[in-house]
Amino acid sequence: MKRKIIAYNFVFPEVLEPLKDEYEIDLFDKIDPKTEPAFIDALKDAEGIIGLSLPVNTELLDCAPKLKIISNNSTGYNNLALDEMTKRGVMGTNTPGVLEGTTADAIFGILLAAARRIPEMDQFVKTGKWKHYLTTEQFAVDVHHKTLGIIGMGKIGSEIAKRGALGFDMNILYHNRSRNPEAEEKYNAEYREMDSLLTESDFVVLMTPLTPETENLMGAHEFKLMKPSAIFVNGSRGKTVNEKALIDALRNKEIYGAALDVYQVEPVMQDHPLLQFKNVVTTPHLGSATFETEQKMAKLAIENLKAGLKGIRPRNLVNPEVLDVM
Ligand code: DGY
Repeated sequence: MKRKIIAYNFVFPEVLEPLKDEYEIDLFDKIDPKTEPAFIDALKDAEGIIGLSLPVNTELLDCAPKLKIISNNSTGYNNLALDEMTKRGVMGTNTPGVLEGTTADAIFGILLAAARRIPEMDQFVKTGKWKHYLTTEQFAVDVHHKTLGIIGMGKIGSEIAKRGALGFDMNILYHNRSRNPEAEEKYNAEYREMDSLLTESDFVVLMTPLTPETENLMGAHEFKLMKPSAIFVNGSRGKTVNEKALIDALRNKEIYGAALDVYQVEPVMQDHPLLQFKNVVTTPHLGSATFETEQKMAKLAIENLKAGLKGIRPRNLVNPEVLDVM
């Protein structure tokens, strides 16, 4: 009998083809993993799971006694209950190093879109409202030479800093768990405590991973510190932001606008209050979603999966402590 792999929300299932001689591969897409009987049944024999954003918790792990590896097809791995996985000898992996530039392009793109009101002006043209030269009602705000504050100066944060500093002559401020000497040297980035960064920045870009420490990092206090002319951009995870506080900040004009690629609940509901603001640009968690990058991510996720199935340390192991348990 062949060994079993589950592919969950995996964008290029055809790249799993070479594994088919050895493994039976069950594909699941657009299902609720908590209630889909076929998925729960497949977990019984699965040795590996590859995919995007599968919520892995104790209940799921209880159903998957043979599991060796969960290969996340993303750089974020907040969906994995790592402590539980480690206890049970299950490896977790991610896909860093191939998506940073692509994600930075997207996040800088929504920053520009919010500042220059591009989606709103697109609708202005397409709905026949462009009858006259533009007046103050359509004017926007500049990006170049402004101050860009980046919370979370990891690899993607650094790529955003590069675009801001070298492409748009922006002053870069950053807040991070540890100092980033490379960004300081290459992009003149200056370290700030969180409150100072929020007070001084014209654009606040949140790129931190979601951890218990960063959950609801941006709340009422933080939005109140921002300039009324500032734009907030979230390219991290939805749960790093208290959405109610963001809505209040927008309603009370404590900030000028926002650009969001991520939400507390995804896909975001169509009647979500954040979708009702003209000065909020929204995208559907598309940071890494280009053909080129998704292919690189899939390749890396498969390499990680194959190593884990063989019991070899995968290149992007995120819970190295597991090696002591296996
Ligand atoms: C990532 O890789 O973490 C992106 O946000 C896609 O999930």
